[in-house]
Amino acid sequence: MAQYRKRERGGGAAVTTSWTTPAVSAGFDAYDDYVETRLAYTPLVNDLRTTCGREAIVLDYGCGSGKVSRRLLDAEAAAQVVGVDISTDMITLAQVQSPQPAARFHTIDSGHVPYPDDTFDAVVCCFVFINVPTREELRAIARELARVLTPTGTLFIVDSNPAATGIPFPTFRSGEPGRCYRDGDERRVSLQIPGTGVLELVDRHWFISTYEAVLNEAGFTVDQVTDRGAQSVEDVGMQSPIDHPPFMQITAHLAAASESAIGAGQMTCRRSYPKPATLAAVVWEGRVLLIRRAHMPDAGRWAFPGGKIELGETLTVATVRELAEETGVHATPGDVFDAVDVIDADHDLHYVLIAVLCRWERGELVSGDDALEAAWFTLEDMDAIPVAQTFDVRAIAETALELEREQQERPK
Ligand SMILES: C[S@@+](CC[C@H](N)C(=O)[O-])C[C@H]1O[C@@H](n2cnc3c(N)ncnc32)[C@H](O)[C@@H]1O
Repeated sequence: MAQYRKRERGGGAAVTTSWTTPAVSAGFDAYDDYVETRLAYTPLVNDLRTTCGREAIVLDYGCGSGKVSRRLLDAEAAAQVVGVDISTDMITLAQVQSPQPAARFHTIDSGHVPYPDDTFDAVVCCFVFINVPTREELRAIARELARVLTPTGTLFIVDSNPAATGIPFPTFRSGEPGRCYRDGDERRVSLQIPGTGVLELVDRHWFISTYEAVLNEAGFTVDQVTDRGAQSVEDVGMQSPIDHPPFMQITAHLAAASESAIGAGQMTCRRSYPKPATLAAVVWEGRVLLIRRAHMPDAGRWAFPGGKIELGETLTVATVRELAEETGVHATPGDVFDAVDVIDADHDLHYVLIAVLCRWERGELVSGDDALEAAWFTLEDMDAIPVAQTFDVRAIAETALELEREQQERPK
């Protein structure tokens, strides 16, 4: 795909920009975003600090070279920021340019945030939806953002204002003057890059109703769609008034939180606390059932199936549900036999896993949900696989095998 178009070449069919090319990453990193900073990023930072406090753990989805993440930390609008982006070059730039220990950056596949459910107090997503070529991909991203946001968290989306297409702003123009864009149309964008000329990109024109529909489908309620820049264009050297402000901000929260938290006047972000979760120890013919984890902590390593207990769900119901979702196995829950802390300070995660002995009932192994693979292991087999490092998988397996043996030997 051709993406970093020089102005003089012009013409040709528009193709949505591929952000995973080094030229686009370097060009965008060199862009002086003072207009966005004054009119969109600064209000966003202030909103986030007001809504979530200074202790928030924030996901910067589509972080680019980390400019927004750094601003959030510099302005003390977050205690920790995780930036994710599909472009490895962008992530490398972000890592090199962000000295703050509270900032972490990861390359991801679109719509896959490698963190567990309910990790983030807030998600910011700046100028990313306009770069997503299909509504289906927008839906997948929105669903993933809903998954990793805490139930009382807030989503902030900042994007070009679709009503401002064709208007020349001091450093950019989004869309061609006089052209009427339909929902999902490709749209040429010119960014003035200091010293090198113009970076021409192709993004997508999405109606605000599309943002709202996609967010609603993912379980969000849109609180506000706010024009950004109408009041302060003079700050960036423009004549006021202007017909349409250059940017817009969408603020949303998870719909499930609306009746309970908002109704009770508790709609603020919160710092994460240790979370109770289940660990299903299924024993069958001298083997234990393990899964290879898809998410942090211990992504890619083998551990027991299990996961977060949902609000109102009992420990045993959560255990059999998580087990079935991750492995396809249906089991009868037995005794609680251990509890372990899983602390991953690098990712600010703390779970308390409650171990439940389970007896296999039915089901062929099928890995799913948070599991990359599922398989049965003897203790000896476990010496040859990379097991989770955040807790002692082998010790739990030994206890489970021993308990199961005792139960089998007990007179019926
Ligand atoms: C215009 S830049 C904005 C970067 C940053 N948010 C900022 O405001 O400075 C868009 C970024 O979104 C990233 N991006 C595009 N599509 C994405 C997707 N589907 N998932 C995650 N990131 C994406 C691009 O790689 C690029 O870094």
